[in-house]
Amino acid sequence: MTSRERFLAACACTPLDRPPLWVMRQAGRYLPEYRALKAKSSFLEMVRTPALATEVTLQPLRRFPGIDAAILFSDILVIPEALGQSYKFRDNGGIAMEYRLDTRAQIDALAPAAAVPDRLAYVAETLALLKKELAGQKMLLGFGGSPWTLATYMVEGGSSEDFERIKQLFYTDRATFDALLEKITTALIAYFQMQIRAGADAIQIFDSWGGIIAGPDYGAASLKWIRTIIEALPKNFPVILYAKGTSPQLTDQAFTGARVVSVDWTCDIAVVRRILPGNVAVQGNLDPVLLNTTPAIVRHETTRLLDSMRGAHGHIFNLGHGIMPHAKLECMQALIDTVTGWH
Ligand code: CP3
Repeated sequence: MTSRERFLAACACTPLDRPPLWVMRQAGRYLPEYRALKAKSSFLEMVRTPALATEVTLQPLRRFPGIDAAILFSDILVIPEALGQSYKFRDNGGIAMEYRLDTRAQIDALAPAAAVPDRLAYVAETLALLKKELAGQKMLLGFGGSPWTLATYMVEGGSSEDFERIKQLFYTDRATFDALLEKITTALIAYFQMQIRAGADAIQIFDSWGGIIAGPDYGAASLKWIRTIIEALPKNFPVILYAKGTSPQLTDQAFTGARVVSVDWTCDIAVVRRILPGNVAVQGNLDPVLLNTTPAIVRHETTRLLDSMRGAHGHIFNLGHGIMPHAKLECMQALIDTVTGWH
């Protein structure tokens, strides 16, 4: 069975001897070969150059052949950028947008959503290169941010501590909030359709800031836009939904049409598996910080998680969030060996 077949089987909740495995590197600069490339080109240059983005995407798979999926090297913030709001990294960590959305006029002045696939054509090129390199053996994951999570960056003007501005907009001017979210949603639909045409086997939607809005408002602020996106994609196409800090809303997430609900490390994934409908797969959820400890601890915690899911169908092994910059290579190896050797 190829990695890709294993992954697709897990998405379809087919019984397997062990779950497929992948990790998101996002905040992690743990690979020396990534840091070496980054010394020569900036992050944005690498994202925008298909040959470089392809190389960076493949780096973890070359070092760790046991990983079952490749995730496109890009960023969720390419969507605000394509709409006319560029971004950069702050020296002391976090994101700074070029400006913040303050007025309705600024929202109306954003580029039309229809322009997005053209502006992000390099992503389609990268996916096509990856598709060829992976030759159907490994799963190829495309991704994007949720409309809500992208709106937080656009309205806050970057990373935020209290998310006051986006919440102010949500509670005081719902019409303007909806206009912005609708624009981002339309852009994401075109973007994901492009990724699927270019060869993505699944799409992961990152609702990284889903957990900062009041529980009863999560539907109107975030989930309804995600549902609209999934409805616009090909029927039954594997969409993985990851919404950090939203355990009370996992059941609602399972009814968006997503085939996989990805959970952070704060929930007991075996309990989540029992609660969610049997035709929706679950992904997760080792605490990423464990990869900064020791191989023995990683082996122990990974085995504990796997044992808790014994006999359950529809599990994709993953971290509860992205790998951290200080993750140790030997801990990553211990994770992979434990999952692939588990029986
Ligand atoms: O695993 C991968 O490399 C896949 C590519 C990927 C990146 N970002 C590359 C990246 C993915 C899937 C993302 C998603 C992303 N980007 C999210 C959603 C996931 C999550 O963390 O919840 C978010 C919120 C972003 C926005 C973003 N980009 C942040 C908050 C940061 C960290 C900024 C900082 O320095 O504090 C980034 C930078 C980023 N994106 C890096 C990578 C590899 C690190 C850049 C570097 O090399 O310094």
